[in-house]
Amino acid sequence: MQIAIDGPAGSGKSTIAKLVASKLGFIYCDTGAMYRTATVMATRLGLDYGDEAAIMAHLKDLTITFKPTPDGQLVFMDGEDVTLAIREPITTNNVSQVSALPQVRTEMVARQRAIAESEDIVMDGRDIGTTVLPHAELKIFMVASVAERAKRRHKENVEKGIDTPLDVLEREIQERDRKDSTRAISPLREAADAVRIDSSAMTIDEEVAEILKLAAEKRREQRK
Ligand code: DC
Repeated sequence: MQIAIDGPAGSGKSTIAKLVASKLGFIYCDTGAMYRTATVMATRLGLDYGDEAAIMAHLKDLTITFKPTPDGQLVFMDGEDVTLAIREPITTNNVSQVSALPQVRTEMVARQRAIAESEDIVMDGRDIGTTVLPHAELKIFMVASVAERAKRRHKENVEKGIDTPLDVLEREIQERDRKDSTRAISPLREAADAVRIDSSAMTIDEEVAEILKLAAEKRREQRK
Protein backbone atom coordinates (compact mmCIF):
# COMPACT_ATOMS: atom_id res chain seq x y z
CA MET A 1 0.00 0.00 0.00
CA GLN A 2 1.17 3.52 -0.79
CA ILE A 3 0.06 6.53 1.24
CA ALA A 4 0.97 9.93 -0.21
CA ILE A 5 0.90 12.94 2.10
CA ASP A 6 1.37 16.35 0.47
CA GLY A 7 1.01 19.87 1.72
CA PRO A 8 2.82 23.16 2.24
CA ALA A 9 5.80 23.81 4.54
CA GLY A 10 4.97 23.37 8.21
CA SER A 11 1.55 21.80 7.68
CA GLY A 12 2.63 18.97 9.98
CA LYS A 13 3.05 16.41 7.21
CA SER A 14 6.26 14.84 8.38
CA THR A 15 5.21 14.44 12.02
CA ILE A 16 1.97 12.81 10.94
CA ALA A 17 3.54 10.73 8.15
CA LYS A 18 6.15 9.31 10.54
CA LEU A 19 3.53 8.33 13.12
CA VAL A 20 1.19 6.80 10.54
CA ALA A 21 4.08 4.78 9.07
CA SER A 22 5.14 3.53 12.48
CA LYS A 23 1.55 2.54 13.47
CA LEU A 24 1.11 0.63 10.23
CA GLY A 25 4.63 -0.85 10.15
CA PHE A 26 5.27 0.85 6.79
CA ILE A 27 8.52 2.51 5.76
CA TYR A 28 8.55 6.33 5.77
CA CYS A 29 10.17 8.47 3.11
CA ASP A 30 10.67 12.21 3.69
CA THR A 31 11.18 13.54 0.15
CA GLY A 32 11.82 17.10 1.39
CA ALA A 33 14.89 15.72 3.18
CA MET A 34 16.19 14.47 -0.18
CA TYR A 35 15.94 17.95 -1.77
CA ARG A 36 17.48 19.41 1.37
CA THR A 37 20.41 16.97 1.13
CA ALA A 38 21.04 18.02 -2.49
CA THR A 39 21.08 21.63 -1.22
CA VAL A 40 23.63 20.79 1.52
CA MET A 41 25.77 19.17 -1.17
CA ALA A 42 25.63 22.36 -3.28
CA THR A 43 26.54 24.53 -0.26
CA ARG A 44 29.47 22.33 0.69
CA LEU A 45 30.83 22.36 -2.86
CA GLY A 46 30.27 26.10 -3.25
CA LEU A 47 27.97 25.56 -6.23
CA ASP A 48 25.51 28.16 -7.43
CA TYR A 49 22.04 26.94 -6.35
CA GLY A 50 20.74 27.60 -9.85
CA ASP A 51 23.60 25.84 -11.68
CA GLU A 52 21.72 22.77 -12.80
CA ALA A 53 24.60 21.21 -14.76
CA ALA A 54 27.06 21.47 -11.86
CA ILE A 55 24.53 20.24 -9.30
CA MET A 56 23.53 17.31 -11.51
CA ALA A 57 27.15 16.34 -12.16
CA HIS A 58 27.60 15.78 -8.41
CA LEU A 59 24.09 14.61 -7.55
CA LYS A 60 24.24 11.63 -9.90
CA ASP A 61 26.77 9.86 -7.67
CA LEU A 62 25.52 11.15 -4.34
CA THR A 63 23.90 8.58 -2.07
CA ILE A 64 21.06 9.72 0.16
CA THR A 65 19.89 7.21 2.74
CA PHE A 66 17.56 7.14 5.72
CA LYS A 67 17.96 5.28 8.97
CA PRO A 68 15.07 5.02 11.41
CA THR A 69 16.07 5.28 15.10
CA PRO A 70 13.95 5.51 18.28
CA ASP A 71 14.74 9.27 18.34
CA GLY A 72 13.65 9.90 14.77
CA GLN A 73 14.90 9.27 11.29
CA LEU A 74 18.52 10.06 10.44
CA VAL A 75 19.54 11.26 6.98
CA PHE A 76 22.90 10.39 5.45
CA MET A 77 24.72 11.98 2.52
CA ASP A 78 27.42 9.65 1.18
CA GLY A 79 27.45 8.01 4.60
CA GLU A 80 27.75 11.26 6.57
CA ASP A 81 24.97 12.10 9.03
CA VAL A 82 23.42 15.36 7.72
CA THR A 83 20.23 15.21 9.83
CA LEU A 84 21.00 18.58 11.45
CA ALA A 85 22.66 20.23 8.44
CA ILE A 86 19.54 19.77 6.29
CA ARG A 87 17.50 21.88 8.78
CA GLU A 88 19.95 24.79 9.00
CA PRO A 89 18.62 28.17 7.76
CA ILE A 90 21.09 28.25 4.84
CA THR A 91 19.57 24.99 3.59
CA THR A 92 15.96 26.00 4.26
CA ASN A 93 16.45 29.30 2.45
CA ASN A 94 17.97 27.78 -0.68
CA VAL A 95 16.16 24.47 -1.06
CA SER A 96 13.32 26.01 -3.10
CA GLN A 97 15.80 27.03 -5.77
CA VAL A 98 17.47 23.62 -5.92
CA SER A 99 14.17 21.73 -5.87
CA ALA A 100 12.87 23.81 -8.80
CA LEU A 101 15.61 22.53 -11.13
CA PRO A 102 13.94 20.17 -13.63
CA GLN A 103 16.75 17.61 -13.78
CA VAL A 104 17.05 17.54 -10.01
CA ARG A 105 13.34 16.74 -9.80
CA THR A 106 13.56 14.02 -12.44
CA GLU A 107 16.43 12.40 -10.55
CA MET A 108 14.66 12.61 -7.18
CA VAL A 109 11.33 11.36 -8.51
CA ALA A 110 13.09 8.30 -9.98
CA ARG A 111 14.80 7.63 -6.65
CA GLN A 112 11.54 8.07 -4.76
CA ARG A 113 9.68 5.66 -7.02
CA ALA A 114 12.45 3.09 -6.58
CA ILE A 115 12.17 3.39 -2.78
CA ALA A 116 8.38 2.92 -2.97
CA GLU A 117 8.53 -0.04 -5.32
CA SER A 118 9.01 -2.94 -2.99
CA GLU A 119 7.46 -2.04 0.35
CA ASP A 120 4.37 -0.54 1.93
CA ILE A 121 5.20 3.11 2.32
CA VAL A 122 4.13 6.49 3.63
CA MET A 123 5.79 9.20 1.55
CA ASP A 124 5.48 12.91 2.20
CA GLY A 125 6.31 15.93 0.05
CA ARG A 126 4.69 18.33 -2.40
CA ASP A 127 4.11 16.27 -5.54
CA ILE A 128 3.74 12.74 -4.23
CA GLY A 129 0.04 12.25 -5.03
CA THR A 130 0.24 14.15 -8.33
CA THR A 131 3.58 13.02 -9.80
CA VAL A 132 5.67 10.57 -7.80
CA LEU A 133 2.99 8.04 -6.83
CA PRO A 134 -0.09 8.94 -8.91
CA HIS A 135 -1.58 5.51 -8.15
CA ALA A 136 -1.17 5.73 -4.38
CA GLU A 137 -4.15 4.07 -2.70
CA LEU A 138 -4.54 6.94 -0.24
CA LYS A 139 -3.67 10.57 -0.89
CA ILE A 140 -3.83 13.18 1.84
CA PHE A 141 -3.44 16.93 1.30
CA MET A 142 -2.65 18.63 4.61
CA VAL A 143 -3.21 22.31 5.14
CA ALA A 144 -2.93 24.69 8.12
CA SER A 145 -2.96 28.46 8.55
CA VAL A 146 0.34 30.36 8.09
CA ALA A 147 0.21 31.55 11.73
CA GLU A 148 -0.23 28.01 13.03
CA ARG A 149 2.54 26.65 10.81
CA ALA A 150 4.98 29.37 11.90
CA LYS A 151 4.17 28.62 15.55
CA ARG A 152 4.94 24.93 15.02
CA ARG A 153 8.20 25.57 13.16
CA HIS A 154 9.23 27.98 15.93
CA LYS A 155 8.67 25.31 18.59
CA GLU A 156 10.62 22.72 16.56
CA ASN A 157 13.47 25.19 16.04
CA VAL A 158 13.66 26.13 19.72
CA GLU A 159 13.94 22.43 20.60
CA LYS A 160 16.91 22.27 18.23
CA GLY A 161 18.49 25.43 19.68
CA ILE A 162 17.67 27.59 16.64
CA ASP A 163 15.98 30.87 17.56
CA THR A 164 14.31 32.61 14.62
CA PRO A 165 11.59 35.20 15.45
CA LEU A 166 8.00 34.20 14.68
CA ASP A 167 7.38 37.00 12.15
CA VAL A 168 10.49 35.99 10.20
CA LEU A 169 9.25 32.40 10.10
CA GLU A 170 5.82 33.56 8.88
CA ARG A 171 7.42 35.50 6.04
CA GLU A 172 9.69 32.56 5.16
CA ILE A 173 6.73 30.19 5.07
CA GLN A 174 4.72 32.53 2.84
CA GLU A 175 7.67 32.94 0.52
CA ARG A 176 8.29 29.21 0.30
CA ASP A 177 4.57 28.56 -0.36
CA ARG A 178 4.70 31.06 -3.17
CA LYS A 179 7.81 29.53 -4.72
CA ASP A 180 6.63 25.93 -4.26
CA SER A 181 3.19 26.60 -5.79
CA THR A 182 4.27 28.76 -8.70
CA ARG A 183 7.27 26.83 -10.03
CA ALA A 184 6.90 25.42 -13.53
CA ILE A 185 7.58 21.76 -12.74
CA SER A 186 5.57 19.75 -10.24
CA PRO A 187 4.22 22.71 -8.28
CA LEU A 188 2.56 22.11 -4.93
CA ARG A 189 -0.93 21.12 -5.99
CA GLU A 190 -3.71 19.06 -4.47
CA ALA A 191 -4.39 15.81 -6.35
CA ALA A 192 -7.98 15.56 -7.59
CA ASP A 193 -8.48 12.38 -5.56
CA ALA A 194 -6.79 13.60 -2.37
CA VAL A 195 -8.53 13.90 0.98
CA ARG A 196 -7.93 17.37 2.42
CA ILE A 197 -7.19 17.60 6.14
CA ASP A 198 -6.97 21.02 7.82
CA SER A 199 -4.77 20.50 10.83
CA SER A 200 -5.05 24.05 12.27
CA ALA A 201 -7.49 22.99 14.94
CA MET A 202 -6.67 19.29 15.25
CA THR A 203 -4.31 17.52 17.62
CA ILE A 204 -1.61 15.22 16.26
CA ASP A 205 -3.48 12.19 17.65
CA GLU A 206 -6.69 13.24 15.88
CA GLU A 207 -4.91 13.68 12.56
CA VAL A 208 -3.16 10.32 12.83
CA ALA A 209 -6.43 8.61 13.82
CA GLU A 210 -8.20 10.18 10.84
CA ILE A 211 -5.57 8.93 8.37
CA LEU A 212 -5.49 5.45 9.92
CA LYS A 213 -9.28 5.31 9.56
CA LEU A 214 -9.03 6.32 5.88
CA ALA A 215 -6.27 3.75 5.29
CA ALA A 216 -8.38 0.99 6.87
CA GLU A 217 -11.34 1.96 4.66
CA LYS A 218 -9.11 1.79 1.56
CA ARG A 219 -7.88 -1.65 2.57
CA ARG A 220 -11.45 -2.88 3.02
CA GLU A 221 -12.39 -1.50 -0.42
CA GLN A 222 -9.39 -3.25 -1.99
CA ARG A 223 -10.38 -6.60 -0.48
CA LYS A 224 -13.90 -6.41 -1.95
O1 DC B 1 9.04 19.58 3.39
P1 DC B 1 10.35 20.36 3.46
O2 DC B 1 10.21 21.73 4.06
O3 DC B 1 11.45 19.59 4.11
O4 DC B 1 10.76 20.56 1.92
C1 DC B 1 11.93 21.22 1.56
C2 DC B 1 11.79 21.87 0.19
O5 DC B 1 11.78 20.88 -0.83
C3 DC B 1 10.55 22.73 -0.02
O6 DC B 1 10.95 24.02 -0.41
C4 DC B 1 9.80 22.11 -1.14
C5 DC B 1 10.72 21.09 -1.72
N1 DC B 1 10.06 19.81 -1.98
C6 DC B 1 9.62 19.57 -3.24
O7 DC B 1 9.74 20.44 -4.10
N2 DC B 1 9.05 18.38 -3.55
C7 DC B 1 8.91 17.44 -2.61
N3 DC B 1 8.36 16.26 -2.94
C8 DC B 1 9.34 17.68 -1.29
C9 DC B 1 9.91 18.90 -0.99
